[in-house]
Amino acid sequence: TSNKSLLILPGDGIGPEAMAEVRRIVGWMEENRAVAFDVDEDLVGGASIDEHGIPITDAVVEKAQNVDAVLLGAVGGPKWDDLDFSIKPERGLLRLRKDLQLFANLRPAVCFDALVDASSLKPELVSGLDIMIVRELTGGVYFGEPRGIEDLGNGVRRGINTQVYTTPEIHRVARVAFELAKKRGNRVCSSEKANVMESGVLWREEVTHIQQTEFPDVELSHMYADNAAMQLVRAPKQFDVIVTDNLFGDILSDCAAMLTGSLGMLPSASLGDVDETGRRKALYEPVHGSAPDISGQNLANPIATILSYAMALRYSFDMGDEADLVEGAVEKVLASGVRTGDIMATGMTQVSTTEMGDAILKELNKANAQ
Ligand code: NAD
Ligand code: IPM
Ligand code: MN
Repeated sequence: TSNKSLLILPGDGIGPEAMAEVRRIVGWMEENRAVAFDVDEDLVGGASIDEHGIPITDAVVEKAQNVDAVLLGAVGGPKWDDLDFSIKPERGLLRLRKDLQLFANLRPAVCFDALVDASSLKPELVSGLDIMIVRELTGGVYFGEPRGIEDLGNGVRRGINTQVYTTPEIHRVARVAFELAKKRGNRVCSSEKANVMESGVLWREEVTHIQQTEFPDVELSHMYADNAAMQLVRAPKQFDVIVTDNLFGDILSDCAAMLTGSLGMLPSASLGDVDETGRRKALYEPVHGSAPDISGQNLANPIATILSYAMALRYSFDMGDEADLVEGAVEKVLASGVRTGDIMATGMTQVSTTEMGDAILKELNKANAQ
């Protein structure tokens, strides 16, 4: 068929709660914008462990390989924390990223005007904030070999992970960052620890090489990752695009999330290469996790997951107008003072996950009627 295909993997904890609101918006698109999606839903993470004993099955990976886009909620939770490392919920997500070769994770941190006061930083520091973190997602210390826990005898054990990058891995993610920068502020800040790590030295040299040979008009700067963390909370608006490795990107993006008011606001897109059929493999997921402390209580902010769906519309389906509609509806709802608990402030109206979904659908209807 020529329908666009979407695989939804709600996962665990607040994942399914937030995803339920996305499904309503997907339904709305079908009814009101004549956008026909073939939507399939399946298990990942703890939900898959409970059903199949493993955090993702080959069948689900296969499905993910063959759809236009995957939308993932969140994985993990205390119920599965004591399982053997190789079958923990998080391994399901890591396998998806690796098997689909989703090497570029785009994590935009945008501060909505209405949420300027929800940030833990002073309003003037975050007002108008618009940064794009490009996190390398299939290499580095997350996947490097050797890895494991060794018994050295005499009660001594050793935990090992290996930080490793090859030049092609650095080149491809750097290109994504430079391409993005060209459509934004034309500036890339590359972050590593070249002062203490050889992989950081290579990273810096190779990012510089790509800039000099392919993107001479894009401004490139370098910053040690510890300084970048500090600069993100000191003066975040100095950044346009940040490109960094898997682990530093994980940490810097949670940090950037808080600049926007809440981790519950940050979407992401994990992109691979374009294949022979012209399709770019892609998985969209919020930056946050399964939030066990609030799950099952209809308290979660669904906006990060909803904005991830908007990113899917934009990047995988070339539906910029529909993405604008969704983002616009979110903006209107926030401006009207409707808030989930994580972004609540005095004078605002606190709502549940489903009520936030209601409010966004209402704004979609209004926008569509105009
Ligand atoms: P977390 O992101 O789940 O939660 C951190 C804090 O932020 C919690 O206080 C939580 O209540 C709050 N929060 C997160 N999302 C929110 C939302 N949408 N609305 C309101 N509040 C929100 O991180 P954690 O507690 O360190 O990890 C919990 C589990 O999630 C772990 O098993 C972890 O491995 C997993 N995890 C999964 C993903 C993913 O699936 N992509 C990402 C991060 C963590
Ligand atoms: C994220 C998460 C994941 C990561 C975990 C759950 C594997 O923290 O997507 O940011 O560390 O990449
Ligand atoms: Mn993370």
